[in-house]
Amino acid sequence: MKAILLAGGTGTRIWPLSAAVNKHLLPVYDKPMIYYPLTTLMLAGASEILVITAREAKEAIEKLLGNGSKWGLSITYAIQERPGGIPEAFILAPEYFRDNSVILMLGDNLLYGMGLGESLNQNSKLVGGKIFAYKVSNPEEYGVVVLGPNGQPTRIVEKPDSPISNLAIPGLYFFDSSVYDRVQSIQPSRRGELEIVDILNSYLEDQLLQVQVLERGTAWLDTGNPKSLLAAGEFVKVIEDRQGLKIGCPEEVALRTGFISIDTLEKNLREIPDGEYKNYLKQLLL
Ligand code: TTP
Repeated sequence: MKAILLAGGTGTRIWPLSAAVNKHLLPVYDKPMIYYPLTTLMLAGASEILVITAREAKEAIEKLLGNGSKWGLSITYAIQERPGGIPEAFILAPEYFRDNSVILMLGDNLLYGMGLGESLNQNSKLVGGKIFAYKVSNPEEYGVVVLGPNGQPTRIVEKPDSPISNLAIPGLYFFDSSVYDRVQSIQPSRRGELEIVDILNSYLEDQLLQVQVLERGTAWLDTGNPKSLLAAGEFVKVIEDRQGLKIGCPEEVALRTGFISIDTLEKNLREIPDGEYKNYLKQLLL
């Protein structure tokens, strides 16, 4: 399946951390931030991934991810010159990429929970759009969805002033290929950006939007401000220390999803310097 990992933006909320290093390369405990959404996309079954970056970040991000072959992926790149909004991803996607349904994930979102991979992996034949909903205590900071009595979405609003719903929409979206036409018919908002809620509302008007409420055991963290970045790092550390398993490890996810074989992992290990990360990967060979 095809996916877009949107890792442009300016990172103003996290400045000066983002002054010289792109936000998506900052550490979330023991890995660069972008590994987390990347592995979520892999778990969702995506092996063709378009990474969209700011021009000045492309070299460093490409140095980290390469063409994806070490993880059994095909990773290609596109440049977003200015943050023109999340739906711009569909304008920047090259023609050959547009033939089928697509997953879009924001490069600063971290999702973790039991059975998440399995539930994400069931959307390859999607007709319409599918989003997730997650109960938060600060819905005014997010796009939110209002659900009707049967769980069907009735309204989607960006950063609502009044409390209409506490169900925020995480930065992970599944769309059929009509998204590439829909993006042509939306206009920039007052803040001068294309808004993802306008895409979602276009599907909603056609009654083609599904919403899955994430289970309460799922963690959804965005890592876009200093507090949430630190909290995400602490979260990853606590889980990893406790369980001895890594979150967001592309080599492991590639192996478990069958994107690479044990032989490929063994080959990759030769390129990885000695240390804790390599030791972890070595025990996957046993
Ligand atoms: P934001 O947090 O909205 O923007 P930002 O990353 O530039 O940070 P700040 O608000 O502090 O300036 O973006 C969320 C994610 O989506 C982030 O990973 C960057 C990505 N993004 C783009 O790549 N292009 C865009 O045009 C927008 C709006 C976001």
